[in-house]
Amino acid sequence: MANFLKFLRPAIFSEKKIFLITKNMTSNVDIKDMRQPYKHKNEAFLEEHLVSREPFKQFESWFNEACKCETIIEPNAMCIATSTREGMPACRMVLLKEFGKNGFKFFTNYGSRKGSELVISVENPFAALMFYWEPLNRSIRIEGSVQKMSVEECTDYFHSRPKSSQIAACVSPQSEVIPSRQFLIDRELELLNKYAHDQVPKPEKWGGFIVAPTSFEFWQGQTTRMHDRIRFRLKKDEEICDNVLVHEGEDGWVYERLAP
Ligand SMILES: Cc1cc2nc3c(=O)[nH]c(=O)nc-3n(C[C@H](O)[C@H](O)[C@H](O)COP(=O)(O)O)c2cc1C
Repeated sequence: MANFLKFLRPAIFSEKKIFLITKNMTSNVDIKDMRQPYKHKNEAFLEEHLVSREPFKQFESWFNEACKCETIIEPNAMCIATSTREGMPACRMVLLKEFGKNGFKFFTNYGSRKGSELVISVENPFAALMFYWEPLNRSIRIEGSVQKMSVEECTDYFHSRPKSSQIAACVSPQSEVIPSRQFLIDRELELLNKYAHDQVPKPEKWGGFIVAPTSFEFWQGQTTRMHDRIRFRLKKDEEICDNVLVHEGEDGWVYERLAP
């Protein structure tokens, strides 16, 4: 028991919570009192704290802070939501590999569930991204349209990965049902032998997507739950900024505060 307990997070170390997670799960588990403090009210995120009036620099600033935070192991881990054309949503984690004014890039298998939902003109080429940096009490939501990256760029990145990851990408028909783990191990061994002295060719279905943002929301949590939310969105044609609700940004963006 003591060995088991040392792997539990400190937040669930009260006797009551240990009881909840170790008891027989035949009834619902009541976790209503799991609640963490966020930021104090004198650490609010105000408009004057924006480092830029356009969202990419603001993203970069918060991302850099997340990178410097020792307790955030993968600041580039993000949740990406996609949906079928009929509107059935699904989300999963991926790793952001590049960002800049032309978009946010990640790599995957085009034949996977997310891949087939995004592939242009077949399904629904829009996605939502979400970063959550728990130790900073911050999250960022991004929405935008999605395009495949060029084959050349994908091939360059593919060959920059460790050989074991290249082999794994060839082995895995991502999101398909497979008979066993052994199925993967057998294929992996086969390809390790085949490409022992040669470059692994990038599988046709493996590649990257780029999300071109149309909105960003910067969220910072408050213990009182009076959270801060500042959203940037692309300015609509002929839109007038009243500087009360909608504020003029830069590079074609406006920003506004959302109720928490
Ligand atoms: C932290 C983390 C990072 C991940 N990064 C990637 C990634 O960059 N690309 C990817 O295809 N899957 C990645 N995965 C696996 C996906 O979450 C998911 O299992 C896989 O892409 C299949 O999703 P789909 O069936 O919805 O297409 C990652 C998972 C985690 C937890």
